Amino acid sequence: MEKLVSLCRRRGFLFQSSEIYGGLNGFWDYGPLGVELKRNVKDAWWRDMVTAHDDLDAPPGAPSAYDMTGLDCTIIMHPQVWKCSGHFDLFADMLVECKESKKRYRYDQVRCRWVDGTGMQIPGSDNQYASQPTRYLITTVAENEAEELEKRALKLLKVRAKDRESLKWDGPVVTLDTVDTADFDKALAPEATKPGTFGEPRPFNLMFESYAGAIQDEKNKVFLRPETAQGIFVNFKNVIDSSRVKVPVGIAQIGKSFRNEITPRNFTFRSREFEQMEIEFFCHPSQSQAWYKYWRDRRMKWWQDLGLAGERLILRDHDADELSHYSTGTADIEYAFPFLPEGEYGELEGIAHRGDFDLRSHMEGKLDPNSNPLTVQLGEDGKPLHKGSGRDLTYRDDVTNERFTPHVIEPSAGADRGTLALLCEAYTEDTAPDDKGKEQTRVVMKFHPRVAPIKAAVFPLVKKDGMPEIAKDLYRALKKKFPAFYDEKGAVGRRYRRQDEAGTPYCLTVDGETVQHGTVTLRDRDSLEQVRIKLDDVVEEIERRVTGP
Ligand code: GAP
Repeated sequence: MEKLVSLCRRRGFLFQSSEIYGGLNGFWDYGPLGVELKRNVKDAWWRDMVTAHDDLDAPPGAPSAYDMTGLDCTIIMHPQVWKCSGHFDLFADMLVECKESKKRYRYDQVRCRWVDGTGMQIPGSDNQYASQPTRYLITTVAENEAEELEKRALKLLKVRAKDRESLKWDGPVVTLDTVDTADFDKALAPEATKPGTFGEPRPFNLMFESYAGAIQDEKNKVFLRPETAQGIFVNFKNVIDSSRVKVPVGIAQIGKSFRNEITPRNFTFRSREFEQMEIEFFCHPSQSQAWYKYWRDRRMKWWQDLGLAGERLILRDHDADELSHYSTGTADIEYAFPFLPEGEYGELEGIAHRGDFDLRSHMEGKLDPNSNPLTVQLGEDGKPLHKGSGRDLTYRDDVTNERFTPHVIEPSAGADRGTLALLCEAYTEDTAPDDKGKEQTRVVMKFHPRVAPIKAAVFPLVKKDGMPEIAKDLYRALKKKFPAFYDEKGAVGRRYRRQDEAGTPYCLTVDGETVQHGTVTLRDRDSLEQVRIKLDDVVEEIERRVTGP
């Protein structure tokens, strides 16, 4: 992972936000190559899900033909949106605070392991545990958790590093939220020097707040959206009434979302500002299960087709006890990011069956997610806790004349996590011959040509004999179709290496043969195969290879 992070910075994929001022935790900027890569991911998603969707026939696996359309909603919406959606009351992570270091940690991200401390002298002025036969819970949030847990246990129990074998671990590494809080007095917090400094876990709302207008009071308080989905729900009726789309219909949106994550980390994986690519798919309740299955499989295949084709990508169905009772299915598409411990996966996209929870919440008022059947949550005064819009968001089928509240399937993907997974998957070290024919280690980003930031690079072999002129014309012709790069500096081998690190799938070299016979060398980034093709065919050939069959 460190190598990838360093390549991303060096080659201009990703920079820390406000780096010259020391950076801002949880915020990232995309550099010249990164912006193209991420845009390609978003464009591929929009094209495949929305503009290129064939609404005339049922695609393979779909229960019927369906419509797809898009929206672009504001980041700041009426505060009632977030009250009715549940984000105002429920969109919280549990955090634990260490009273000694004053640091806060996400409860489910603190990793810990019990160690036997029988008869050990434990440091600390209120040393109530000294000499007691007891166990201690060593905790960490570091990525190299095994190493860190051992280091901290050795220090706490005053065991010398050479005697590490004498540490008696008790059970596997678990997360802190699986430990009884009654045992917190034995827990050594990640940056504490003595045990017993964790406070009670408590909720922390992740929504960023701001004020609309000049007066900063409760009335003007607004929130930066933590998901793009709600903009779609509250516009459902507008879309149906203003266009010719009919249920079943998917409404798509790509846009920024904001979450004040307690512990942003793992590069862009958990950021405080990120982009989502979300579809709310509205269908008849009787068909929702079939649509859920369709979207689950469709979305998995989409990521595979974009280059995450290996075993690192999995589809994980949630167990029944992970589901809310109004949902009959949720699945996550997960990727084995290299910063995660062996065998663990991180979510790229969730596909959720949400029933009619969201449309009803915006009609009737915030529903109590624990009620069954779902009813509006009441406040202490017996009135709805958060009043709905009162608008009719039901749908009338003009063929059957049936009126119903559509059920929703929600494929919700992260553009940044997707981009990060593609970066991780692409990073490869292999060997390739240098200018003298000697095999050298090379770093190559093996992006799928569709997402590669630059599609083709053009090199004149030498800066004379008419080669630069031909190469520049070719470069200009390619640029009309897609991002291309012109490079005449340094040995050709070094120019290849620079393009390998940028993930450029094809390099074209203009040489003496080009001047004489009108052919160029096309070099394939992955196979290193070089073929000669006619200069006049280059643009079409690259286009064919980049867009695929
Ligand atoms: N509307 C449903 C929803 O927002 P989610 O699982 O909270 O569901 C969907 O988010 C996707 O958004 C995730 O699968 C992930 O790819 C991305 N995402 C969520 N939080 C993120 C964060 N802090 N940083 C980067 N991406 C995030």
